[in-house]
Amino acid sequence: MGELARDLAEALDPVLWAERVTGHMLDPWQAELLRGDCRRVLLNVCRQGGKSTTAGALGLYVAQHEPGALVLLLSPSQRQSGELLRTVAGLYGADDSAVQADAQSVLRLELANGSRIISLPGKEATVRGFAGVRLIVIDEAARVSDDLYYSVRPMLAVSGGGLVAMSTPFGKRGWWHKEWTEGQGWQRIQVTAEQCPRISPAFLAEERATIGAWWFAQEYMCQFGETSDQVFSYELVAAALRDDIKPLEAAKHLTTARESEV
Ligand SMILES: Nc1ncnc2c1ncn2[C@@H]1O[C@H](COP(=O)(O)OP(=O)(O)OP(=O)(O)O)[C@@H](O)[C@H]1O
Ligand SMILES: [Mg+2]
Repeated sequence: MGELARDLAEALDPVLWAERVTGHMLDPWQAELLRGDCRRVLLNVCRQGGKSTTAGALGLYVAQHEPGALVLLLSPSQRQSGELLRTVAGLYGADDSAVQADAQSVLRLELANGSRIISLPGKEATVRGFAGVRLIVIDEAARVSDDLYYSVRPMLAVSGGGLVAMSTPFGKRGWWHKEWTEGQGWQRIQVTAEQCPRISPAFLAEERATIGAWWFAQEYMCQFGETSDQVFSYELVAAALRDDIKPLEAAKHLTTARESEV
């Protein structure tokens, strides 16, 4: 295939592009994500399932093929943001028909077509100020704080951009667990280690015996475990909550008394 024909085919099918630059056959969920509209997607994927690779590939594909696109990659820490941008840079370097770079640093890649990929660490203060965002990809979403999540969502209000959040579970807590279990309007994709062709049954048996049932269920089976400081289970508390009961009179007096002390 000539280069022009290849570029055309890849512009129509991101999977062709991703398989060339990663050098891997994509797993079905990776292909589904790249071919989808990425409006609101949650991915509950096991450890080593390919989340960061997919996050980087998705961000880079959009930046290369949609001139002027602003892509934000979000991670819980500076170190992970740097790792994620390194993944992007690796894929970018492997693409012999990539759009030329205008600027590149450890946390950002700016392309000559006006697109930018910016990898942000999980501090709420550092993410404010971006407008016209085409796509936000959150890696390790379960460890990204509620503050950060609620401060990035408004960036999509005017641009109509997409939001993709991928993670392994981290207990029944936080926004990602809430969105996964009860959020509206999300496409949900789940991939356990048993569904990952690169993780062998023998390795999983060893892990199950070594790390114990709680960790195994979380790291490899996409299960949200009770957090260690919970006295009552999440289901027990949720089942006990009712909207039709008014607060106690005594509690109201207490609040009023406290407010008058201030
Ligand atoms: N479709 C694929 N085919 C072959 N190898 C792949 C594929 N997708 C990812 N990998 C490889 O699998 C390994 C793990 O990928 P990656 O780091 O993206 O996973 P992860 O889910 O982010 O892992 P972690 O949970 O540890 O953060 C990497 O070496 C990556 O290159
Ligand atoms: Mg990762």
